Amino acid sequence: MHPKPEIHVRPSRVIEALVPSAPPNSSLVPSSLRWIEADLRALTEEKERLLKDAEPRCQLRRIKVDLADSSARVAMLKEVVGPSTDVLVMTEGLLVYLDEAQVRSLAMDLRNQAGIRWWLLDLASPALLKVMGKRMGSQLANAPMKFGPVNGVAFFEALGWRATHVQSMMSAASRFRRLPWTMKLFRFLPEPNPRSPGRIPWSAVVQLGRA
Ligand SMILES: C[S@@+](CC[C@H](N)C(=O)[O-])C[C@H]1O[C@@H](n2cnc3c(N)ncnc32)[C@H](O)[C@@H]1O
Repeated sequence: MHPKPEIHVRPSRVIEALVPSAPPNSSLVPSSLRWIEADLRALTEEKERLLKDAEPRCQLRRIKVDLADSSARVAMLKEVVGPSTDVLVMTEGLLVYLDEAQVRSLAMDLRNQAGIRWWLLDLASPALLKVMGKRMGSQLANAPMKFGPVNGVAFFEALGWRATHVQSMMSAASRFRRLPWTMKLFRFLPEPNPRSPGRIPWSAVVQLGRA
């Protein structure tokens, strides 16, 4: 049996930049939750087409926005956060495609919205980006992976965020029994410092709160 996912926050509103479409349809999601998905127009239209018969379990809204466009992003955030005080933002799979300046500006925009209390993101080390670039270079030609800060979670701590939970993908994959057998021995190696992952290929899911 798989362990249950750990849930550390209880938001009333979720701004979801880019997770699979399943969560709003899951019975784990309370019906009172407002779930907002923000993604590019073409991707959102395709998602709407494919999921037109799926009945969301919570209050779902999809917004077509280019999150690299800072004025469109700020306007969208202001509107969807509104008077809420307990908003969770998730950016699974997004940051790696942005450059450092774009992630810095996104981190500041999220921090500037007082109602956003938590931010869940996935983070890669520079060494992991290198390995992925070598292995998947041609497949990633149109979507190169860029963001893997040398200072790991300290990148966000310098911008007014506080890392409250850091879980490496390796340990999570092992816990959920999703680790390929070729990787199983690696899980016994010591984890790098999340503020200085150095030359170790490492990735993690990070929960941030306001500092
Ligand atoms: C690796 S996928 C994320 C996958 C998603 N979490 C899932 O499991 O299906 C990257 C996503 O980022 C979105 N994306 C990339 N650049 C974006 C931008 N500038 N604005 C909004 N969305 C963007 C893509 O449209 C795509 O949905």
